[in-house]
Formats: sequence, structure tokens, C-alpha cells
Amino acid sequence: MKIFLDTPDLSAVEEWLPHGIIDGVTTNPTLLKKSRIEDWTSAVGALARRIGPRDLSVQVSGGCHDEMVEQARTLAARAENIVIKVPVISPEGRPNLDVMTTLGSSGIPVNATACLSTGQALAAAKAGARYASLLWGRVGDEGGSPECLVTDIAALLRRHHFPTQLLIGSIRAPADITRALNAGADVVTVPPPMLARWLDHRYSRATVREFQLDAGVKDE
Ligand code: E4P
Repeated sequence: MKIFLDTPDLSAVEEWLPHGIIDGVTTNPTLLKKSRIEDWTSAVGALARRIGPRDLSVQVSGGCHDEMVEQARTLAARAENIVIKVPVISPEGRPNLDVMTTLGSSGIPVNATACLSTGQALAAAKAGARYASLLWGRVGDEGGSPECLVTDIAALLRRHHFPTQLLIGSIRAPADITRALNAGADVVTVPPPMLARWLDHRYSRATVREFQLDAGVKDE
């Protein structure tokens, strides 16, 4: 079971690393835009070096095969642990599996992102992706059952002996983390505030406070 942080924010990553439960980090263009990082290619290089040897996924946004491959090569040159996120299809519906196989043959690991169906995740696995990213919240947005999809994909990846890890993104509630892992996810990538909520519990706080009072710790 792996937990990734879904953020480009180095300070949030720094906060979580000492707890020993973070196995990698993912980003996407929306998160990078929100972070207001100006020179994000340098920033991801610094982030990758900080978290190494854990993987950092960074997404390409080119419009065609050659653009995506060029972007990917530039990004991958920034650090050894950068994994290139390639959208499984283009906005026009063209498969980007050829980008994945080109990168794979150059030894650049791929995270196939924007997967919303079993077929997309399996095709990404066949194209050699290290991770197939299924977007849990977005499956739900369209009325689908993310749990059923994760169960299906995890079983098929195992049955056909693919080394591809099923990574679940688009986590929108703390309970999604447990539900995704329980359904067979290998990795969940979680926004830092969501991870904090997953661990918090009002009654744990009250219990610890009770123990402290009984141990003679004064109320603040
Ligand atoms: C994973 O890295 C995805 O890009 C991300 O979790 C998407 O989340 P959203 O659907 O909440 O935007």
C-alpha cells in the first residue's frame, strides 16, 4: 500500500515526510497553476530531488506525440525519479499510448493519467505505464462507481500479470482513501489537507486530552 501526496507544494511535502508514510508525490497542471509557481520546471526538479528516491509525477501538456515526448525528455532530465504523466487520450479522443511506448523505450517511466474506464487503464498497462491513474472523484462525477472500477481493474491487472500499479487520484473525501485501498488500489494520491482529515478524529483528541489531564498536564 502506497500513499502519495497530490501537491506541488514543497512546504506541505516537508511537513509530511518526517511522518514516514509518504511514498511519492503527484502534480498536475491545475495544481501547478493554483500554486502560482512561476518557473515550475525548476520547482519540480527541486521537489524531485528533495523526495528522491520516491517518484514525482509531472504531467506533459503538449498537443501531439512529438511535443509531449520533447516535453517529457526535458522534464525527465531534471531528476532521475521524475515519472511522466501522460493523459491516456487527447481532448479529441486520440490515444496517447504511442507517447507512452516511445517514453518507455527511452527508459522514461510513465504515469497514464485521466483514466476513467477499465479499458483505458488496461491499455495503459499494455503500453508499459508504471502507474495507471484512475480519477476516483471524476468517475463519481459522471455517475459511475469508482469502487467497482477499482475492483475490476485491480483484478485484471493481477490476472494478466501486469507490473503496472493502479494509482487512485481525485480523492475528494477522507473516506475515499480507505475505500480505494480496500477495493484494490496499489497507490492513493491525496491532497495534504485530506490526509490530515483522514488521520484526525474528534474523539481521539478528547481521549488524549483526558489522558493528559489525568497525567497532571494542565489545561492551556
Ligand atoms: C491526480 O494526480 C489527479 O490529477 C488529481 O487527483 C485530480 O483531482 P481532481 O479530479 O479533484 O481535480
